[in-house]
Amino acid sequence: MKNVSSIVFVLAAVSIALVWSDTNVTPAEQCEGQNFDDLRKRIQVIPCGRSSCKLQKGTNTTVVLKFKPEREVKTLVNEVYAKIGNLPLPFLGVTGVSACPQVTRVDGTPAPCPLAAGEEYVYTNVFPIESFYPTVNLRVHWELKDDEHSVICFEVPAVITAAKPK
Ligand SMILES: *[C@@H]1O[C@H](CO)[C@@H](O)[C@H](O)[C@H]1NC(C)=O
Repeated sequence: MKNVSSIVFVLAAVSIALVWSDTNVTPAEQCEGQNFDDLRKRIQVIPCGRSSCKLQKGTNTTVVLKFKPEREVKTLVNEVYAKIGNLPLPFLGVTGVSACPQVTRVDGTPAPCPLAAGEEYVYTNVFPIESFYPTVNLRVHWELKDDEHSVICFEVPAVITAAKPK
């Protein structure tokens, strides 16, 4: 009897661990023509569900990503937009601005550009979901670029939802 209950306990703990790790995975996908190692381990969009990220108007969305440049990065620019069908919708205050101020070392200390090849860096961005964005399903394209060279890139299915009634 004691054995049975400990087996039940272990099974319960394992399934809780599985659910937990699952809810913390962002369903990030590779950008077309690119292949970054361990992409899903590197990307976190908050809040995000199992199959798509929920972007609610009037709230902030946080993107945290880890990346390791293959070569020295002199400038780092946010190339971020939503794809609604074939139409790109830029996120205000994100698209086209320098990403250098948003990068730290793994220990949290600032990492001003240039960034060294082969080092791990962490990029964090918090941006608002504006009330005038359309409430639609879309794909978020998030890329950090040094000139024309992609340093990290992912896409994630997302949905913009209405603001919570006040
Ligand atoms: C979103 O982030 C901005 C800037 O950090 C902050 O001023 C604002 O209060 C945040 N809004 C919400 C709804 O958390």
